[in-house]
Amino acid sequence: MSKAVSARVYQPTPRNLAFLARRLREGELVAMPTETVYGLAGNALDAGACAKIFRAKDRPADDPLIVHIHAVADLEQVAHANPAALRLAKKFWPGPLTLVLPKKASVPSLVTAGRDSVAVRMPAHPIARRLLKLAGLPLAAPSANPFGYVSPTTAGHVRQGLGRRINYIIDGGSSQIGLESTIVDLRRPEKPVLLRPGAITKAQLERTLGRRVKFRRRAVAKATAHGGQLAPGMLERHYSPRTPVVLHAALGELDHLAPREAFVFMGRPPRAQRPNIFWLDRRGDLGGVARRLFATLRKLDAMNFKTIHVELAPGDGLADAINDRLRRAAAVAR
Ligand code: TXA
Ligand code: MG
Repeated sequence: MSKAVSARVYQPTPRNLAFLARRLREGELVAMPTETVYGLAGNALDAGACAKIFRAKDRPADDPLIVHIHAVADLEQVAHANPAALRLAKKFWPGPLTLVLPKKASVPSLVTAGRDSVAVRMPAHPIARRLLKLAGLPLAAPSANPFGYVSPTTAGHVRQGLGRRINYIIDGGSSQIGLESTIVDLRRPEKPVLLRPGAITKAQLERTLGRRVKFRRRAVAKATAHGGQLAPGMLERHYSPRTPVVLHAALGELDHLAPREAFVFMGRPPRAQRPNIFWLDRRGDLGGVARRLFATLRKLDAMNFKTIHVELAPGDGLADAINDRLRRAAAVAR
């Protein structure tokens, strides 16, 4: 395991972006910032490049990739759109929304893990947009982390996780949103299904579509929502630190807290000066919580606590997305 770090971190200068767009056209991978999380990008129309993505991440071949495009007009290149999809695209693109639609033959089946549908997103981050434009290609880009670990929200996170497996990382600072995109299945436009909650909420989708969007919250979610603890292995391993994560409906009394356990609040709690007390946003603002969640889990994971206790976010909307990631972080079988 002594393989050296091969990745170089590039500043997003015009010259560097032109060079990296060329590398993408030649079938190489580039980790790029997006407004949600960093993505590991490769030419979505090149099965060879996409195979490298799966290898670099150790991603199982049955987990399909998201295809990123530069303009709404490019959607037709990779997917069969429908009026509902176009309505959402016009409202929320560029932005943190991924649409699942019937795929076109141009997309290699490797990208979609053999499915006849493809997930498509038009990111808002100016550097991702510049790179897409310069490359002139749709880019397949899953989150730029080893499979199963917490998604990266800085170039440093990407380097930590994939620095020995890739060559090119663009530094675009901290991701603005901090959680992966909302994914909605629009293969049957009259029956839209929310597959992954994100910064664009179910209510926003419903308002724009003028119909209900189904979200089958997994049974296990209900247990934790009422303060119950999640049994290991009940959800797929995902977004997970190595340290066990235990969720709480609310963290209150701090008197009997063990020093080797970390406690993570949404907002700054009273008696916050203890070294094992953390919070995600001073005022408990959920936008700030989302932005700092993954970086905080990573930081705490490196501090060798026995357990990380985390309070669930109150309410719905963005709280649904935050709690979804927390539940997955807590779900690892150990
Ligand atoms: O915000 C994001 O979406 C980030 C940035 C980089 O754009 N990307 C991201 O990709 O989160 P990833 O690989 O971590 O998540 C992709 C997920 C898959 O795990 C799968 O759940 C879903 O997207 N997906 C992809 N293609 C699909 C399809 N055809 N049908 C259903 N779900 C699909
Ligand atoms: Mg991922």
